[in-house]
Amino acid sequence: MDDEELRNGDNFTALFLKEIEKKESPNFNMDQLTAMIFDLFVAGMETTSSTLTAGVNLISKHPEVQRRMQAELDEVVGRERFPTCTDMER
Ligand code: HEM
Repeated sequence: MDDEELRNGDNFTALFLKEIEKKESPNFNMDQLTAMIFDLFVAGMETTSSTLTAGVNLISKHPEVQRRMQAELDEVVGRERFPTCTDMER
């Protein structure tokens, strides 16, 4: 994603930058944006990493569960692509 796409998108950063440009509220400023992105980064890093580590640890101790997970993945997603959020309803 280049700078142009980032600014025109409907993601958190693009929408926050638009609010800064509007100059309607002093709460939308670059210091706040930097702090919030830092918060999301820190909050998401260790939690996600620890959850994945615990998950891999658990399924390595329960091979039958791992086999069932693989069978479900093969059935719903197949082996030619990565899963996406839309696969969750299946
Ligand atoms: C498996 C991964 C994650 C786990 C287990 C986890 C767990 C938690 C828990 C237990 C809370 C406290 C909820 C409460 O008591 O109100 C929390 C809050 C929060 N998490 Fe996560 N989290 C995960 C991933 C992420 C990611 C990826 C992000 C950011 C991209 C994130 C951002 C936040 C933020 C910003 C809060 C504070 C929300 C608030 O202001 O109330 N978390 N998380």
